[in-house]
Amino acid sequence: MARILSGTELAQRMREEMKTELADLKRMHNVVPALAVILIGDDPGSVSYVKGKEKACAEVGIAVRKHKFDADYPEKDLLVLIRDLNNDAGVNGILVQLPVPDHINEEKVLYAIDPEKDVDGFHPMNIGRLMIGAPGYVPGTPHGIQQLLVRNGIELSGQHVVIVGRSNIVGKPLALLLVQKKKDANATVTLCHTGTKNMGEITRLADILVVAAGRPHTVSADMVKQGAVVIDVGVNRIEDATKKSGFRLIGDVDFEPVSARASAISPVPGGVGPMTITMLLHNVIKAARKQRGIAQ
Ligand code: GUN
Repeated sequence: MARILSGTELAQRMREEMKTELADLKRMHNVVPALAVILIGDDPGSVSYVKGKEKACAEVGIAVRKHKFDADYPEKDLLVLIRDLNNDAGVNGILVQLPVPDHINEEKVLYAIDPEKDVDGFHPMNIGRLMIGAPGYVPGTPHGIQQLLVRNGIELSGQHVVIVGRSNIVGKPLALLLVQKKKDANATVTLCHTGTKNMGEITRLADILVVAAGRPHTVSADMVKQGAVVIDVGVNRIEDATKKSGFRLIGDVDFEPVSARASAISPVPGGVGPMTITMLLHNVIKAARKQRGIAQ
């Protein structure tokens, strides 16, 4: 059976390190990093993600300024709010929870955030920096996946990483991150998507298979090479009358049969999710240090 790559455990260890770092920042520099979180509407997934982010910030010692609006909040008001937060020296990071309602242009919103406060790493400036290997803010999920692998002793250099899913927040930035000629990267990367023919033939070549398709049962056991490392990024709500909430979470990978072939696998929940939030915390601390001129 595969080794379980627990994001919950690693995230907890990393957050303990952050707690110490933040206590030192406060004691030596009187700095408490602050994150502005903007949530529009009441999509249950988004509400739950924002709750998780607030809880994690509170746990390590990052201040959260939450701005919650009804689903009909006008785009122009949002752009004014972002401009004000850009200019507010007391705010180190700005996060707009995605997806935003249909009447709001997501691209306009992401472009409006000051790249130096873009702790999600979604601004084209930060994506561009990631592409050329320049310093910037790396999106939380790709960065969390890299840390989950590296801190479990899984080598990336020279390995064939196959990514399923080409989203702007996971698949594409992960490919950019892992292909860099750098430590904890230097992989051979293949990016598969809905236009890929014979998906199984390609996924079977993977030493490390990352699945971020957003669809349950995207990867079955016959699509995985014996001994491969499998990272499941999917978070799918499945109705389950036995649960108090009425649902449970499953990933994009058929967990049981794939575990029997893989050498290591990340579970859902408790795999990539906690790592995403942890790397957001990392970016907020980095932003505060940078903006206050305190060495990393
Ligand atoms: N929606 C899904 N993932 C994310 C994320 O990492 N950040 C934000 N802001 N919204 C998301």
